[in-house]
Amino acid sequence: MQKRSFGTTKDGKEVFLFSLENKNGVKAEITNYGAILVNLYVPDKNGNVEDVVLGFDDVTGYEANPSYFGSVIAPSANRIGGASFELNGETYSLKKNNGENNLHSDDELGAHKRVWDFMESEDSVTFTLKNADGELGFPGNKEFKVTYSLDDENGLKIQYEATSDKDTIINPTNHSYFNLKGHKEGNIEDHRITLLASNYTPADAASIPYGDIVTVEGTPMDLRKEILIGDKIDTDFEQLNFAVGFDHNWVTDNYNGEIRKIATVKAPLDARIMEVYTDLPGVQFYAGNFIDPQDGKNKAFYGKRSGLCLETQCYPDSIHKPNFPSVVYGPGKIYKSTTIYKFV
Ligand code: GLA
Repeated sequence: MQKRSFGTTKDGKEVFLFSLENKNGVKAEITNYGAILVNLYVPDKNGNVEDVVLGFDDVTGYEANPSYFGSVIAPSANRIGGASFELNGETYSLKKNNGENNLHSDDELGAHKRVWDFMESEDSVTFTLKNADGELGFPGNKEFKVTYSLDDENGLKIQYEATSDKDTIINPTNHSYFNLKGHKEGNIEDHRITLLASNYTPADAASIPYGDIVTVEGTPMDLRKEILIGDKIDTDFEQLNFAVGFDHNWVTDNYNGEIRKIATVKAPLDARIMEVYTDLPGVQFYAGNFIDPQDGKNKAFYGKRSGLCLETQCYPDSIHKPNFPSVVYGPGKIYKSTTIYKFV
């Protein structure tokens, strides 16, 4: 574990970059600004090391970060229809930051734009953040804890914990954009993907799920057998037309609260292969369809589909969908989850 400065926020707070490295030359660098995964260096099968996540050189880049590169999103990832919800008889209003809806809690004031407290150990770093009752519109005095660790099997593990003194919505995720060729190498349509999900939650043109859980069978959403992303992403299929490509919640198979493999992504020629493991019920596979052209770290230039996200989560808009797994946590119901991005 090493720590160095990652610059100073516009409010004058110094933030840090923590490095975790294993014996195989995999290195993850994370900042306590937003608990963001900034760099992830991974050797390919010939030993060539590339940084496989999109990001910025210093904290100033992350103070803008319109695409949420590397971010931990909290309290609520993804969308809440109408940007409001009712809980225990009270109505709560959130920021309308995605048409009429709420996306990722708050684009400007969310957890990904806060300075988190930190605690280092030899092979992990833990970040904590407090959210006051009513902050961003969500009830409850909440505390979030996110731990990153890296093992010698090349697994980058992200563990989440959250408590609240009132019932509230807890549905965090990590919003890293992966490009397994290297973050500067452009489009991910040449990657192959497998998602172990027999169902998904179709959504309207604003990406709010209708509420039904539908089989992928016979549709371009069937990724149970490996596909080349570019072969399917622009299929003329209403769900793909709505979202300009893949940007949907898949209902991952064999959900029982235990960790299991849900996805595999491969760079061309299998040069790098990433597996995703989680104990959560869903994953938003977002193919970077809306990345605006922008400068990135180390003189990179990013654009549409320069990276893809596998955002492990509970389903979007669950608070309005009684048949979806609940996202309500509070006194006596602590939130805990684990996701692993593993390079094999
Ligand atoms: C999520 C959404 C996308 C997009 C990104 C952020 O993955 O599903 O539609 O808004 O976040 O740019």
